[in-house]
Amino acid sequence: MKALFRIAIFLLLSLSLHAENGHKLWLRNTTSNPVNVVCTKDSPILSVAKNELKQGWQGESNASVVLTIKTDKAIVGDGFKIVNNGIQANTEKGILYGVYELLRRQQTNEVIKEEICNPSYQLRILNHWDNLDGSIERGYAGLSIFWKKGNDAMVVSKNDKLLWNEYARANASVGINGSVLNNVNASPDMLRKETLQRVKAIADILRPYGITTYLSVKFSSPALIGGLKTSDPLDPEVIKWWKEKTAEIYSLIPDFGGFLIKANSEGQPGPQDFGRTHADGANMLADALKPHGGIVMWRAFVYQTSGEDRAKQAYTEFMPFDGQFRDNVIIQVKNGPIDFQPREPFSPLFGAMKKTPVMAELQITQEYLGHSVHLAYLAPMWEEFLQSDTYQEGKGSTVASCTNGAIFKHKYTAIAGVSNVGLDANWCGHLFAQSNWYSFGRLAWNSSLSSEQIADEWIKLTFSQNTTKNCNSIDWDLNFLKPVKQVMLQSHEAIVNYMMPLGLHHIFAAEHHYGPGPWWAPKGVRKDWTPPYYHQADSLGIGFDRTKTGSNAVSQYKEPLHLLFEDATTCPEAFLLWFHHLPWDYKMKNGRTLWNEMCYRYDTGLQEVRQFQKVWDNVQPYIDAERFTHVQLKLREQSRNAQEWKDACLLYFQQFSKMPIPGDIERPLNELDQLIEKDLKRN
Ligand code: GCU
Repeated sequence: MKALFRIAIFLLLSLSLHAENGHKLWLRNTTSNPVNVVCTKDSPILSVAKNELKQGWQGESNASVVLTIKTDKAIVGDGFKIVNNGIQANTEKGILYGVYELLRRQQTNEVIKEEICNPSYQLRILNHWDNLDGSIERGYAGLSIFWKKGNDAMVVSKNDKLLWNEYARANASVGINGSVLNNVNASPDMLRKETLQRVKAIADILRPYGITTYLSVKFSSPALIGGLKTSDPLDPEVIKWWKEKTAEIYSLIPDFGGFLIKANSEGQPGPQDFGRTHADGANMLADALKPHGGIVMWRAFVYQTSGEDRAKQAYTEFMPFDGQFRDNVIIQVKNGPIDFQPREPFSPLFGAMKKTPVMAELQITQEYLGHSVHLAYLAPMWEEFLQSDTYQEGKGSTVASCTNGAIFKHKYTAIAGVSNVGLDANWCGHLFAQSNWYSFGRLAWNSSLSSEQIADEWIKLTFSQNTTKNCNSIDWDLNFLKPVKQVMLQSHEAIVNYMMPLGLHHIFAAEHHYGPGPWWAPKGVRKDWTPPYYHQADSLGIGFDRTKTGSNAVSQYKEPLHLLFEDATTCPEAFLLWFHHLPWDYKMKNGRTLWNEMCYRYDTGLQEVRQFQKVWDNVQPYIDAERFTHVQLKLREQSRNAQEWKDACLLYFQQFSKMPIPGDIERPLNELDQLIEKDLKRN
């Protein structure tokens, strides 16, 4: 009987599901009820809001929705109030965000009650690592939507405009209000006249969606394109050049947001090249932007070949300048102290820099998380990070509250995410990678949302439109929503397990950062770019000693974290090998040896992906064939990759541990030397 019922549903759904390439993201309402939108004012932003209501209204037919701009002290910044007959806000942007919230609640069947919603961060920004030739650094979803090479590189086509419009709408729908249009490894050509014309064209499309445009700039631009002899930030000619360039940008884009800058990092030029400091460099740019209301986002992603533990360097380099930056400078800090690893403790700069605004930089694109092949829902990782307690101002000083203005009062609060958007039809390469774009926006708007709630919303918006109408929703909830949500919530931990469990980090193959490469250490390469620097495996054990007998990076954390991390018995096992070098037979809390635990973790990760495959196959009746097959094939590849990760890491580390793989674990299928050869070939 049950089987018959499922077949009937399957047939019913197959008739109604049409091919889908994922381009519509989470914005796919196909039908709407008539609605009467009442708004006495008009503007491009308000027009967008009104159109959205008309296109997406799922409430009572012919209802009147009133949009009111009226000052209310309880509403902050882009915030809004849902009132019984509409939306009230202080600004038109607030109205727009309120409209998207209302429509989202309708579509996901959430309660709509009178409520004020204020954003956690004022500036919620995507960072695009797009190059002027159209390539994207660490992009896995095709070429850039903004830039292209060729003779017509600067010609703005109809298609460009259409795509930018869709992109802007997607951002606005989740509250993102800023875009940095180019790579932090910035080309000086970004600031040339002809390029700025195209920036203006993009900004004009983004503006009605409440999105501010920013650019990454190269510190040596004055010398490279300005004809100056130097780019010394204290040189009067250099100061003048930046002032004039900034004024030129504002003459084209009056609401331009400001500059993002990677300076003295990974070979990029910066103030230190001229004997100046980060503060000198950042403040010079800040002064140029100040009269126009712009900001500088100065990155703290710095590490030299000084010999000091790379995990300590950003803190060492930036803490002395706390309080020395202008009030329109924000220090942009990656979530962890190394570089977007599958799991890192939070960077100790959060909460420690008290007199300077600090913003988190998250990586939405999956540089170290299986690119656009592996299904990795990242909100649980970001939630863990945002809710990490820094203890800097006592218990409860979470990263979120140290950066969102709850604890430290600065002029600006902000958060950034490195975008995963490209020209692929589905924007992000992997259908589920769209959920990370969505989640970044949602968390930037409300940093206390749970990853579960975000997954719930995203699945409903992305998959339910065509289905709930056709099938009984209890069935859909039980057999689609629930299992798919479970896969999403488990997916990040599964990757940590089969790539880098227990605090291992940076053991990737070089350059592409996709597969395993714990062995990679050619002569002459910077040690801190090689995996053995990070895993430190030897006959005695494995892990990076960051306690006082090692690099003492633990001392950069405030008590009680410092002591908690210092002692292997109190250090969370998730970070054990991040902070400790431990013997292979070290006893874990569950009684296993460290080696055995590693074996189980790697195998668990692999088995989890196999389970995801089964779950996905079971949900086939609830989804169109195109999206089903897309994810099925990706999961198959992920499964093969997880096997490689497990085999490579266990066989490689076994050379040091000299211990057997526990008998109840599936044996490796690949040979270590073949995996090594494969990796080198990929390079
Ligand atoms: C990583 C990444 C680089 C990027 C850098 C950065 O190292 O691999 O491609 O440029 O981060 O964030 O600046």
